[in-house]
Amino acid sequence: MLTEKLNKESNKDLNRTLSEEFSSNKSNTVQSSSANSAENDAYVLGLNAAGLLAEVVGFETEEVVRSAYGTDIETYQGRHFIDFTGGIAVHACGHNHPEIVAAIVAQAQQVLHVSDTMRHAPQLELAHWLRNLFAGILPGDPEDPYTFLFKNSGSESIDAAAKLAIKATGRHKLAAFEGAFHGRSMLASALSRSKTVHWQAYEDFLNPLRANIIHLPAPRCSGCELRRDTAECCANGLEALLETHGSEIAAVFIEAQQGEGGYMPMAPAAGKKIRDLTRKHGVLLIADEIQAGCGRTGRWFAFQHLGIEPDIIVFGKAVGGGLPLAGIAARKELMERWQPGEHGTTFGGNPIACAAGLAALKIIARDGLVERAAETGAAIKARLQPYIGRFGIVEVRGNGLMIGVELRDAAGQPDYARCEAVKLKAREAGLMLLTCGAKIGKPSVDNAAIRLIPPLNVAPDVVERAMIIFLAALQDDLAQAA
Ligand SMILES: Cc1ncc(COP(=O)(O)O)c(C=O)c1O
Repeated sequence: MLTEKLNKESNKDLNRTLSEEFSSNKSNTVQSSSANSAENDAYVLGLNAAGLLAEVVGFETEEVVRSAYGTDIETYQGRHFIDFTGGIAVHACGHNHPEIVAAIVAQAQQVLHVSDTMRHAPQLELAHWLRNLFAGILPGDPEDPYTFLFKNSGSESIDAAAKLAIKATGRHKLAAFEGAFHGRSMLASALSRSKTVHWQAYEDFLNPLRANIIHLPAPRCSGCELRRDTAECCANGLEALLETHGSEIAAVFIEAQQGEGGYMPMAPAAGKKIRDLTRKHGVLLIADEIQAGCGRTGRWFAFQHLGIEPDIIVFGKAVGGGLPLAGIAARKELMERWQPGEHGTTFGGNPIACAAGLAALKIIARDGLVERAAETGAAIKARLQPYIGRFGIVEVRGNGLMIGVELRDAAGQPDYARCEAVKLKAREAGLMLLTCGAKIGKPSVDNAAIRLIPPLNVAPDVVERAMIIFLAALQDDLAQAA
């Protein structure tokens, strides 16, 4: 059983790590729980019980966050959690990194918002920083450098990438892969193929849109019925499509490591073949790096694991340092095929979000967090390796700190129920986890996994504490089920 002692020790240990990490930044922290009146706590918890918020988003817990630092979340209910969810892979530098908070405060004193009416310094500085980053990782033609369009969310940025591809190519069809998740806007929902629940309620509206969307077999060997283990065969569906309809296809969307669909990395050989095919047919390759980007996979971008250069890169989540920021990157020549007015935004690239994002990226670079993600991720995978074949674990996969632990039942079926049960057990013991995995009723695509996405700077002792809780939750849940 998961013991109270373990929970207490975990929080004690966590508090020590946190106080070390943040001791020099007390002024940036919000008030401690003792400073909050019991009356205020009761008020907030009363609001929480009043059914004020739409439940459609599927809140993970009834807990209400009071404050969060690093990997620690404190709630109004008086609990502490080690957070291995990071606001769904957003907090690369941990919650409320003091330098990000300071950048937000400083920018708030300058300008909050101007929209597309005027350029502003934080967006220019962020774009400049990103251009230099791209010049380093994708040298290509220095005369045609990377240029950026900033938006508020990943989904919006997927829409933007599709619009640019359609405009630039003069073609009207898009291709995406089974198992993919590209977001929640109507277009992103139509493109996505990771969970039926994401689209089935809107099927009648989405179907006409899908006349221009082709879904290709999931690009992975794991679970594939062909089981050829020659990674290029992942691109066979695309090859056939482009041979017959290549001149109609504007773009192919890829996730170099599928996120929501089960933390499935694409094989480099498949990525290379997809790149070659798209180039051959004048089709743009759009890399969705919304979840996998900004160092999460142990490289700045997950497509680097494939050794390719996409035409459009979509980024989000971690790029805003905790504030809503996302966007697309493309070389200038491509971006300039858009005319002013063909796309726009009210809030996208907001000054405060850009200032926060720039601060976060600078921390990631300065503190070597990309390399650290690779090292910590390898250590976590090594730690879990001996348990493959036990507790229902069939695979521990993923790059860097984007790790999926796949669970199957005795019949070899994806064990969605156990993933949920383990997640809840871990939470009881003070560790916040999320699940992932495709669920579309297709054996070659479906899988059930628990995702491990701590901040890139997670301390080794916090990782170990989390692993103890996680493994105990797996064991405990199995014991209960027996
Ligand atoms: C790979 C990927 N693409 C797109 C999105 C959608 O981003 P957003 O929720 O910011 O709209 C997500 C969100 O989880 C994602 O993981």
